[in-house]
Amino acid sequence: MKTFSPSLLYHHLLLSLLVILLHARQCPAAGGSWSVLLPSIGISAMHMQLLPNDRVVTYDRTDFGVSNISLPNGKCRPNSTDCSAHSVEYDVGSNTVRPLMVLTNVWCSSGTLMPDGTLIQTGGWADGYRRVRTYKSCSKCDWKEIPDGLNQQRWYATNHLLPNGRQIIIGGRQAFNYEFYPKKSATENSPSFPFLVQTNDPNVENNLYPFVFLYPDGNLFVFANNRAILFDYSKNQVVKTYPTIPGGQPRNYPSTGSAVLLPLRIKKGEIDAVEVLVCGGAPTGAFVNANNGKFDGALDTCGRIKISDPNPQWVMETMPMARVMGDMLLLPNGHVLIINGASAGVAGWELGRNPVLSPVIYTPDNQIGSRFEVQNPSTKPRVYHSTAVLLRDGRVLVGGSNPHDKYVFTNVLYPTELSLEAFSPSYLESNSSSMRPRIISPKNKSNIRYGKRVAITFTVSGPVDLKLVTVTLMSPSFNTHSFSMNQRLLVLDSANSAKAVGKSTYKVGVVAPPSGNIAPAGNYMLFVVHKDIPSPGIWVQIRR
Ligand SMILES: *[C@@H]1O[C@H](CO)[C@@H](O)[C@H](O)[C@H]1NC(C)=O
Ligand SMILES: *[C@@H]1O[C@H](CO)[C@@H](O)[C@H](O)[C@H]1NC(C)=O
Ligand SMILES: *[C@@H]1O[C@H](CO)[C@@H](O)[C@H](O)[C@H]1NC(C)=O
Ligand SMILES: *[C@@H]1O[C@H](CO)[C@@H](O)[C@H](O)[C@H]1NC(C)=O
Repeated sequence: MKTFSPSLLYHHLLLSLLVILLHARQCPAAGGSWSVLLPSIGISAMHMQLLPNDRVVTYDRTDFGVSNISLPNGKCRPNSTDCSAHSVEYDVGSNTVRPLMVLTNVWCSSGTLMPDGTLIQTGGWADGYRRVRTYKSCSKCDWKEIPDGLNQQRWYATNHLLPNGRQIIIGGRQAFNYEFYPKKSATENSPSFPFLVQTNDPNVENNLYPFVFLYPDGNLFVFANNRAILFDYSKNQVVKTYPTIPGGQPRNYPSTGSAVLLPLRIKKGEIDAVEVLVCGGAPTGAFVNANNGKFDGALDTCGRIKISDPNPQWVMETMPMARVMGDMLLLPNGHVLIINGASAGVAGWELGRNPVLSPVIYTPDNQIGSRFEVQNPSTKPRVYHSTAVLLRDGRVLVGGSNPHDKYVFTNVLYPTELSLEAFSPSYLESNSSSMRPRIISPKNKSNIRYGKRVAITFTVSGPVDLKLVTVTLMSPSFNTHSFSMNQRLLVLDSANSAKAVGKSTYKVGVVAPPSGNIAPAGNYMLFVVHKDIPSPGIWVQIRR
């Protein structure tokens, strides 16, 4: 019989200590969890848009080769021997996909959801350069295409919904101008945009997919490469020039960083602070170096600027880790999720290295120095051509990743990813359930009108701190290449403070946004947030 020796006991103790230490290292302070929703959706989700019926339309490109999902009913694309789908619609509720048919090449295109819930998607490559495509979800709907819908060829452009219900499409490779959709007339031109020439680094660019946000006075904030302006697109005038981001390093494609407009807090119909946060990117020279096999470390800095200040200045902060090709997403509670990407190289075929598997959450209202919290890691690299969008239930849908110009699943550093995952921030953990609000009214799909009061009834099963209840509105954004177009979170003004109206039932009155400059008409997700824990959202439509 074996005796239990002191030295064996010592070994056991050492081993347990090691396990505890390793465990502690792998589970940082904050939580968040990952789950694979579908191991293959058939395509690599390179572009994603959440629709107001909880479906997500996604597509990659028509010249990736044969995908892993066939077009329905034996269909093939016209003039092509490829009978596989390059777009699918994902149904969040049933966790299933349905193949769709794009006719022309949608590669590196852009888009924005229109007020009626139709996705207007623009541009792409080759036969897709000047296409406009529309997708309105229904059980049998498919893409419709408008040949020559754009004046200019647009590849790597940025779109934004405007207060007048049209969308603006800005830039694209060698397209130093902008245009609108729908057009006022067939002859409406494309005004030139010298800022895109000024920020274009010859041969390297570093200003594609510019970061564009609608400023509450109706102008557009446009950031490209390492600087930004406030732009009046109707007069084609630069209203204000912001300082260059300290360090002057590039933040746009292919030195891809990301950016968000921080939550807009409405008080008495006004917004006093408008702030933009830009994070990550790649240092000057990284694109040329990566093409020569040298993968420079990504940028680990974020710049935050209060663009509403009379004399705005960038304030720099350091992320817990460097990141290029990360996605920045606003969460319903106003925190910012930074997810996906790599810590070396740049965007482009085979040009990224060292995937960053851990997301980071940035809490804008914390003191500087305690704003970043590292989250639990995924196991799947999500490098070039990966995507992320917020779902109505508060999860973040993560898909895509393909740094190859075809589908490649073996013998490469980062194989093409066809899977769809969800990242659940820690507010979804079961320890929050007694604090989580649930909306009773208004009903799904309610209309709300500018400046009008909206009464919201909700339940919370556990103890409530009514002072810590807020109501937020989130636009569903179009995500590709690390930028979420038309992303916007509004914190509504309370008309009266929340009060109890029954057992575990509460009511709060809020005022709808005052104007289309602050919230363009269209579909939003409305959340009640209690102690930073959001309710599942409901869809509302802001009407003019
Ligand atoms: C719930 O637990 C996670 C860790 O698993 C922690 O990060 C989070 O703060 C907890 N939430 C609350 C409300 O206690
Ligand atoms: C392709 O789809 C099938 C299921 O339809 C799946 O078993 C397979 O793993 C997928 N291939 C890849 C590379 O994901
Ligand atoms: C297919 O090719 C023909 C002949 O080149 C062309 O006229 C037609 O527009 C093409 N169809 C599509 C959908 O591209
Ligand atoms: C809103 O609609 C969605 C999808 O149709 C449904 O799952 C959800 O339960 C509804 N929420 C409310 C509050 O009615």
